[in-house]
Amino acid sequence: MAKYRIAWMPGDGIGVDVMGAARIVLDKLALAAEYPHADIGWHFWRTEGDPLPPRTLELLKTCNCALFGAITSKPRDEAAAELIPDLQGQGFEYRSPIVRLRQLFDLYVNLRPCKAYAGNPLNFRDDIDLIVFRENTEGMYGGVEYHPLPDALRAALTAHNLRMDRYKDVPADEIAVTLRIITQGGARRIVRAAFEYAQKFGYPTVTISEKPNVLRKTSGLMVRAARAMAQAYPAITLQETNIDAQMVLALRHPTDYGVLVTSNMFGDILSDLTAELVGGLGFAPSANIGDGFAVFEPTHGSAPSLAGQYTANPMAMLITVKLMLDWLGEAEKAAALDAAIADVIRAGEVRTFDFGGTHTTLEVAAAVAARL
Ligand code: NAI
Ligand code: MG
Repeated sequence: MAKYRIAWMPGDGIGVDVMGAARIVLDKLALAAEYPHADIGWHFWRTEGDPLPPRTLELLKTCNCALFGAITSKPRDEAAAELIPDLQGQGFEYRSPIVRLRQLFDLYVNLRPCKAYAGNPLNFRDDIDLIVFRENTEGMYGGVEYHPLPDALRAALTAHNLRMDRYKDVPADEIAVTLRIITQGGARRIVRAAFEYAQKFGYPTVTISEKPNVLRKTSGLMVRAARAMAQAYPAITLQETNIDAQMVLALRHPTDYGVLVTSNMFGDILSDLTAELVGGLGFAPSANIGDGFAVFEPTHGSAPSLAGQYTANPMAMLITVKLMLDWLGEAEKAAALDAAIADVIRAGEVRTFDFGGTHTTLEVAAAVAARL
């Protein structure tokens, strides 16, 4: 009997290739799971006007979590032009399926581990082990944007800030506004997740990285939430840094950091840098986690130029599978997979092109599976 139902969402391009790699490893681990296929991606946009069809949402509701490859997305007009003739001109608008999944399932944690596997020639250093907790549902990427500027918002802004005077003669369609909304509940749950993770996996520090000297209200709220949460975790030290300085610190002194926690956009930017320190996109896993559901995906996209060639590096996906096993509570299998990945990287015999080899996606997966 399958213990878990894991929605299987290859999506587009190399998403399909690296999901093939994931399956080799999951089958070798003999995880007690079934993997119902879920439709997602460009094909469903073109032919149905929706890259995340309603049947997929229904299927996801019957699953414990989802494993996701990658999707192709394109700017609005380009996307509309690729619809099949029957769907043209009917007002379909492309919306990112992954952003929708995060919102629909309230997947408020975006977790991005950046651990150097010894022997990876792409490592900045071999002793880096940090993890970024990025708030995933609100903040600058919460989707609250205005263009043209509504009168009511103009009135509110003018009342708030005398400096709005300088905009008073600017036509509504010449101003765009994005709101950075952070709630106390939102701040509290992301910092709690960071502390919980630090405690569970033995990291001595949690670093809150914001910009409270300038973003006094929103970043101030994040920092206060972190300080309050730290009270409940006396064994863990809370560090506070400014996000701009943190970019430099992560480069200069990466080993001073363990768990880093920040708001949505800052986390997006910081985690791109930290991923690059340990090998870049081919090694960058991620997880979108809510209270009862999670979607696991490598950070990379569909890489159209590599699609279907089975040359893409599957390591990002395999480390993502490790995150999924941890989340499911399969700690032993997760640790075994991590050790096998580390072994293959250290041995250096089986590698894809991006870190100096000539092997295929599935050969790398087979090498990992052989060590399990
Ligand atoms: P990308 O991540 O697909 O590729 C960026 C570069 O990294 C390319 O040179 C690619 O060949 C290389 N690369 C990516 N993954 C690799 C791997 N596993 N092994 C070896 N090399 C790898 O980002 P790009 O090119 O900006 O976007 C391509 C498409 O993917 C676009 O349609 C974009 O919208 C979409 N995308 C989707 C994401 C997702 O599904 N979460 C995230 C980022 C982009
Ligand atoms: Mg990004």
